[in-house]
Amino acid sequence: MERLYMFLLVALLLARVQAQEKGFISLDCGLSPNEQSPYTEPGTGLNFSSDSSFIQSGKIDRIDPKLESGYAKSKTSLRYFPDGDRNCFNLTVDQGTKYLIRVTSNYGNYDGLNSPPRFDLYIGPNFWVSVDLGLGKLVNDDGDKHDKREEIIHIPKSNSLDVCLVKTGSSTPIISSLELRSLPSDTYNISNNIMSSSLKLIQRLYLTQSKTVIRYPKDDLDRIWEPHFQPEWTQISTVRKVDNANSYLAPHDILMTAAIPANANEPLSFTKYLEFPNDNLHMYFHFAEVQALQANQTRRFTIFWNDRPIFRDLTPPYLNVFTVYTYPNPFLCQAGECLLEIKRTQISTLPPLLCAIEILAMQNLPQSETNEDDVSAMKNIKATYGLSRISWQGDPCVPRQFSWDGLICNDTNVSTPPRITSLNLSSSGLTGTIAPGIQNLINLQTLDLSNNNLTGKVPEFLANMKSLLFIDLRNNKLHGLIPRNLLVRSNAGLQLFVSYDTCLSSSCVQDKKFPMKFVALASSAVVVIAVVLTLFFLYRKKKRSSLGLPPMRVMSTSISGQSIETQRRRFTYSEVVEMTENFQNILGEGGFGIVYHGYLNGSEQVAVKVLSQSSSQGYKHFKAEVELLLRVHHVNLVSLVGYCDEGDHLALIYECMSNGDLKDHLSGKKGKSVLKWSTRLRIAVDAALGLEYLHCGCRPLIVHRDVKSTNILLDDQFMAKIADFGLSRSFLLGEESQASTVVAGTLGYLDPEYYSTCRLAETSDVYSFGILLLEIITNQHVIDHAREKAHITEWVAFVLKEGDISRIVDPNLHGEYNSPSVSRALELAMKCANPSSEKRPDMSQIITELKECITENSMKCIDDMDSSSSFELSSSFDTKVVPIAR
Ligand SMILES: *[C@@H]1O[C@H](CO)[C@@H](O)[C@H](O)[C@H]1NC(C)=O
Ligand SMILES: *[C@@H]1O[C@H](CO)[C@@H](O)[C@H](O)[C@H]1NC(C)=O
Ligand SMILES: *[C@@H]1O[C@H](CO)[C@@H](O)[C@H](O)[C@H]1NC(C)=O
Ligand SMILES: *[C@@H]1O[C@H](CO)[C@@H](O)[C@H](O)[C@H]1NC(C)=O
Ligand SMILES: *[C@@H]1O[C@H](CO)[C@@H](O)[C@H](O)[C@H]1NC(C)=O
Ligand SMILES: *[C@@H]1O[C@H](CO)[C@@H](O)[C@H](O)[C@H]1NC(C)=O
Ligand SMILES: *[C@@H]1O[C@H](CO)[C@@H](O)[C@H](O)[C@H]1NC(C)=O
Ligand SMILES: *[C@@H]1O[C@H](CO)[C@@H](O)[C@H](O)[C@H]1NC(C)=O
Repeated sequence: MERLYMFLLVALLLARVQAQEKGFISLDCGLSPNEQSPYTEPGTGLNFSSDSSFIQSGKIDRIDPKLESGYAKSKTSLRYFPDGDRNCFNLTVDQGTKYLIRVTSNYGNYDGLNSPPRFDLYIGPNFWVSVDLGLGKLVNDDGDKHDKREEIIHIPKSNSLDVCLVKTGSSTPIISSLELRSLPSDTYNISNNIMSSSLKLIQRLYLTQSKTVIRYPKDDLDRIWEPHFQPEWTQISTVRKVDNANSYLAPHDILMTAAIPANANEPLSFTKYLEFPNDNLHMYFHFAEVQALQANQTRRFTIFWNDRPIFRDLTPPYLNVFTVYTYPNPFLCQAGECLLEIKRTQISTLPPLLCAIEILAMQNLPQSETNEDDVSAMKNIKATYGLSRISWQGDPCVPRQFSWDGLICNDTNVSTPPRITSLNLSSSGLTGTIAPGIQNLINLQTLDLSNNNLTGKVPEFLANMKSLLFIDLRNNKLHGLIPRNLLVRSNAGLQLFVSYDTCLSSSCVQDKKFPMKFVALASSAVVVIAVVLTLFFLYRKKKRSSLGLPPMRVMSTSISGQSIETQRRRFTYSEVVEMTENFQNILGEGGFGIVYHGYLNGSEQVAVKVLSQSSSQGYKHFKAEVELLLRVHHVNLVSLVGYCDEGDHLALIYECMSNGDLKDHLSGKKGKSVLKWSTRLRIAVDAALGLEYLHCGCRPLIVHRDVKSTNILLDDQFMAKIADFGLSRSFLLGEESQASTVVAGTLGYLDPEYYSTCRLAETSDVYSFGILLLEIITNQHVIDHAREKAHITEWVAFVLKEGDISRIVDPNLHGEYNSPSVSRALELAMKCANPSSEKRPDMSQIITELKECITENSMKCIDDMDSSSSFELSSSFDTKVVPIAR
């Protein structure tokens, strides 16, 4: 069994090697999609494939049909790049393998302009060579041919390789074929130092009088050997096979012929100047003795470079390859002249000989490719959003002038892989969720995804990206929770911009205990208006665009974790009249109008707030409230069913809160029953959850500005919801604030610090919440001049000093409460109402603390009269339980 498996494995491996042509990649660039791919090229037998799956840009064409006959099939079609400065082929390679990379460009007057282009080639981020198809070729310049071949021997540092064509002027880069051939690792040594270099081909010649170019299949490695001969030479050859058994695997055919100087006393010399006189050159000489020498014959010679011997006393073996190469010492031409000579030595009876020579130049590729993880993250992001920007090819960061649009990288050190530090995909038409691939850009400092159509939540992973300093997510369709940790980061300096639509769908409370000290209580609880000026977070008023009321389809919302789609409606005035049965039942009267009871669709109970027609102030609040309620949604905020904005008739239609407001219940007005302590605590938690949502779940955060007992409404189950958003304001986080000109709110609940500085922050709501909590505990008026102390905080502090909690607690509770629970709530209330905003807890801390009051109450309440669970309502409540259709 095991053997069979091994056999299969080997067979598979062999099959794979066969199919891949021994590490060959042969792309026919611009091959028409109508033609078969891959096809076997006649002559070479190489299998060429279309390049279309390796590049996303460029256009395809063919050379002038009149010129086609002179070229192999793969050189007759081409891809040209009118758009973009850099266009790249992206190939999958084996990291660390040595490759010969060959680009052939055949102009062939494809555009009919007779104007061969000029352009540059790059390997990844590094310059390789400038190509000028108008320049005559050094070797083999037969007539009008304008095809050029560039070759480099290179070891990729990753499993992907970019070969790029770069515009250098007005002409359009072209490419006809792209070929990769893997080479044995022990050939063509490349130095492995930091300034990693590759070898650029200058010439590869075999010395023969024939005109035949030799390549695959005669050369297993598919090097292309050009024939070369000079008049002062004579050819010698053999018909016997020459052994080519060294790692260079020089083709037999090139070893079977050799050149010798016709005059045996002359050196064999290359008189032509080399094309790149400033390059560091490496030369490879391939010899084989092709003549059977007599006993009295010797062939021995020395190679000279500009009259300096570089290889001495060489004698090639008979019918055996013999290769010498200059690595590791490179050679330079002197004053632009490079004279290469091979001279017989004194004892040699025969002239020198040479079969083939390769001249390569060191090409430094100093620039590191962008960090691999960043590159794959970017590819992932590109794929996720289906982005096809012309500049998004090749290395994302380098060279800097071709870096991808929207990216900024840290590329300060060429020998360190650049890292992406900024990603700006603002206004890129992105849809879907925020791509998880972003989290792999671990050095990212700036992320701008604003002005797109992104949906879903703000992902948790953003909070874990340590380098992030700036996030802009505005103007998307995001909704749901802003991760708690991200808010923590934003408080610690991260600039976070999230649009209004982004509110959380559940509480972001974490179980963190707010440290409370009883001792601080009495002394700190003195209200001094206009005393404490502390530095606190500055927020700027969000400029409101004048409200052309938005269309009524609203974001999906979530109540108790269940997502529902709410359809809010705009109503006509006549519908409002019908709804309220011509304004028959008044529920109450608020600052800006009267609230009527009504029925929607004949069954759903609603509260209809009709704004008094005269008040222009009223219209402003109306707009503010509609705008806000359309965007926020939370189980502890009264939700808007619809509105009417018809001429002078302005009305807001809310869900009906059958149990009215908290104030009525506390005071026992209108025959309302007295609320138990446990119910009061639960109401406080509900209200706190609503506020916490506005403060920490919404970006920009929203300050309610009018938290008070008459704005806490109770539904049939005594769940509390916050109402009346007419004064609310939202603030862009992280932007500097302006003091608002008008201080708004209700006397007694108004934060003294806000009152004195006119600077509004969410801590003002915390103050008001503290006052509300005191009301819930004491059932006292917030301001009562008949008391020892007029303001409720002063009065509580005053009574507390006498140490009598029972005098503070609402007498209507008749002692039916758990004292530690009440003390704790009282302490919390006073902390909230601290005159210094800095010392107030935030809503999350308040919620945690209130929940502990509830726990405390339920644990010890067995002895109390309240025997039911603290979360259950006693049946003694005199309430009409009317189910509300949703
Ligand atoms: C080209 O493909 C054919 C058929 O797939 C195969 O027989 C041939 O060996 C391939 N050519 C080379 C050079 O590998
Ligand atoms: C490169 O090619 C691979 C597979 O051939 C592909 O998955 C990847 O997305 C390409 N990268 C770019 C930048 O086009
Ligand atoms: C060339 O590389 C091979 C394989 O890495 C090594 O064995 C050989 O010593 C190198 N030659 C020189 C001259 O460094
Ligand atoms: C070498 O020996 C051959 C006979 O084996 C002879 O014909 C020839 O002249 C000799 N050549 C030299 C240079 O001595
Ligand atoms: C860029 O990276 C280098 C380390 O390679 C670091 O020292 C430098 O602070 C970084 N610069 C920026 C702007 O992040
Ligand atoms: C660049 O990085 C290399 C290695 O990471 C280090 O040796 C070299 O000193 C750095 N150069 C600069 C200018 O920071
Ligand atoms: C992102 O790009 C847009 C324009 O394309 C620009 O207005 C905005 O300021 C950029 N964002 C950042 C953070 O630089
Ligand atoms: C969002 O999508 C809508 C419709 O597909 C389109 O009209 C709008 O321009 C897009 N908005 C942005 C910012 O891309």
